[in-house]
Order: sequence, then C-alpha cells, then structure tokens
Amino acid sequence: MLLGAGLDTRAYRLPWPPDCHVYEIDRPEVLTFKHHVLDRLHLTPHTTRTPISADLRTDWAPALTAAGFDPTTPCAWLAEGLLLYLPSAPERHLIDTVDRLSAPGSTLAYEIKTGWERPEVRASPVYSATLRQTGVDLLALFDREPRPDSAADLTTRGWTTTTHTPYDFTRHHGRGPLPEPHDALAANRWIFATKPAPTSG
Ligand SMILES: C[S@@+](CC[C@H](N)C(=O)[O-])C[C@H]1O[C@@H](n2cnc3c(N)ncnc32)[C@H](O)[C@@H]1O
Repeated sequence: MLLGAGLDTRAYRLPWPPDCHVYEIDRPEVLTFKHHVLDRLHLTPHTTRTPISADLRTDWAPALTAAGFDPTTPCAWLAEGLLLYLPSAPERHLIDTVDRLSAPGSTLAYEIKTGWERPEVRASPVYSATLRQTGVDLLALFDREPRPDSAADLTTRGWTTTTHTPYDFTRHHGRGPLPEPHDALAANRWIFATKPAPTSG
C-alpha cells in the first residue's frame, strides 16, 4: 500500500510475488498526471495495481475498502516522503487507520523529520536546487506543526518499531548520502514498524 504514491513505479518495476495487490493512494491530479505519462509509454504493471484518489487529510479508509482492500490479509504500508507534508492531526489519523486496517503480520515504513530545521539547513543547496530545477519550493510545502510521536503511538498499540537515519542505509548498501555541514537529511528518520502475528500454542 503506497500512501502518497506520487510517481512511484514499483508496481511496474519489481518482480512481485503472485497474489500481491498494490494499492496507490494520492491526490487525483497527481494520479491523473501519472497515468498520462504511463499510458503514453504503454507500460503494464507486474502485479494487480489499483490507484485510489483520496486526500490523506480526510477519512480515506472508505475509499480503500470500496476499492477492494482486504484488512484481513497482512499489508506492507509505505509512506515515503509523505508525512513531512501532513499536519499532525492527519498523521495521527493515518496511524490509527493503518492500525485498524492491519492484520497481524502487517508492516509500516514511514519517513519523518524530527523537527523544523534551522535557517542554515533551510539554506541547503538541496532545497535551492530543487526550487531552481523543478520550481517546487519544498520548504513551503513542509508542514510546520509539532510532530506527533507516531512511533510511540504504534508501540502503545502493540507494534514493534525501529528507527533509522538515512546514513544507516548508506552504510548498509555501501552507497548513498553522507552527513555534510548543515545537512538537509540530518533530521530525517525512517521508522519501520511491525504488527506482531499471534504466537501459536
Ligand atoms: C515527495 S512525494 C513522494 C512520492 C513517493 N512516495 C516517492 O517516494 O517517490 C509526496 C507525495 O505525497 C502526496 N501527498 C501529499 N499530501 C497528500 C494528501 N493530503 N493526500 C494524498 N496525497 C498527498 C503528494 O501528492 C506526493 O505525490
């Protein structure tokens, strides 16, 4: 389940096991643009793929259920680059919805920033280059509300969580970003959460 799927093309690229179903939630205008591009390339997904137009600041669970999502089957939820843009109430609602719709054995991975960045970090070339190259001002899109502690919320709900920095993946894969002065990634964290399956016996 890709929450804030954007232009993610995993459904078209990865060798999915049989019986997988990839759902992609994003705002209608983003999905319309994506389909416009994909249709022109005549691409077909490597699995069953269902795009769902929804605003994740609202109650989006009914759209998911209406699209055929089965909450009794374990799901891998991914919110990559999404929560940075959502106010705190929709983030809390997202965690609640994911928990409610997750069968035991489900997983959730999501990315956060630990806080609003200092001016030196906001002046990082990452942001200015993005603005120059794409016209998108990421800093204007980031939500400025204090973040809820969703990892703690998940733990309270019985999930297990681990937290990683982007550099953990650099070390693991032997390539990727390294810390630098006034680093725009220094405040980023990845949370991996699992809803335990019941133990037998
Ligand atoms: C930085 S992009 C990440 C896209 C993709 N997950 C990836 O990592 O390539 C953030 C995505 O979240 C979506 N998004 C932001 N706010 C949203 C909302 N309220 N409802 C649905 N999608 C939203 C945006 O439209 C955008 O596609």
